[in-house]
Amino acid sequence: MLRIKLCTVYIGRVERLLDSIKLGQNKQSVILESEADTVAFGGLLASACIGAGVVFLNGDLGMGKTTMCRGVLNSLGYQGRVKSPTYTLVEPYELKSGMVYHFDLYRLGDPEELEFMGIRDYLDEQSLVIIEWPEKGKGVLPEADIEVFFELEGMGRAVRWSGSSVHGEEIAARLTESLTKD
Ligand SMILES: Nc1ncnc2c1ncn2[C@@H]1O[C@H](COP(=O)(O)OP(=O)(O)OP(=O)(O)O)[C@@H](O)[C@H]1O
Ligand SMILES: [Mg+2]
Repeated sequence: MLRIKLCTVYIGRVERLLDSIKLGQNKQSVILESEADTVAFGGLLASACIGAGVVFLNGDLGMGKTTMCRGVLNSLGYQGRVKSPTYTLVEPYELKSGMVYHFDLYRLGDPEELEFMGIRDYLDEQSLVIIEWPEKGKGVLPEADIEVFFELEGMGRAVRWSGSSVHGEEIAARLTESLTKD
């Protein structure tokens, strides 16, 4: 099981929760039955990214995208509140593991606004960039390394992922590996 850069308190929590998260047959999907599962999965995602990458979180309103981002940030040691940057579009986090930028583009009027805010400055290869509502930035946003898709599944969420670059496929494979029971 992968244990890269997860803070120690978090590892115990994730390990307990991992028992309830089952890898789907295609090995790139899971059912997350609770908010806690989504947070735990975010920790595994952070770990699989090893500090850098562009992650698109796709899914309807209220599907758990911000919750998963909170899992990423908590696992990297951030203890504060994770608020959705709906109006500011981006929230930067300076963490020991490096910079994490959380974008929420729900209220983006025109993808060109991303040019004006200097989107390229956020996209260096040392940063982890997590983007909710990436479809709103289509044409200006860079390609994702990995895309995560959320759907409703009973009271929980069905989540699948797909790597779309060399780095992204490595992330996807590490994620699968971390969910494969020893
Ligand atoms: N696996 C899960 N099962 C059930 N509820 C969940 C799960 N994951 C998250 N939730 C709940 O879903 C609700 C919405 O979560 P969240 O705000 O993260 O969604 P979102 O996708 O970011 O929405 P938006 O598009 O509005 O930003 C929260 O109440 C959260 O607790
Ligand atoms: Mg959100």
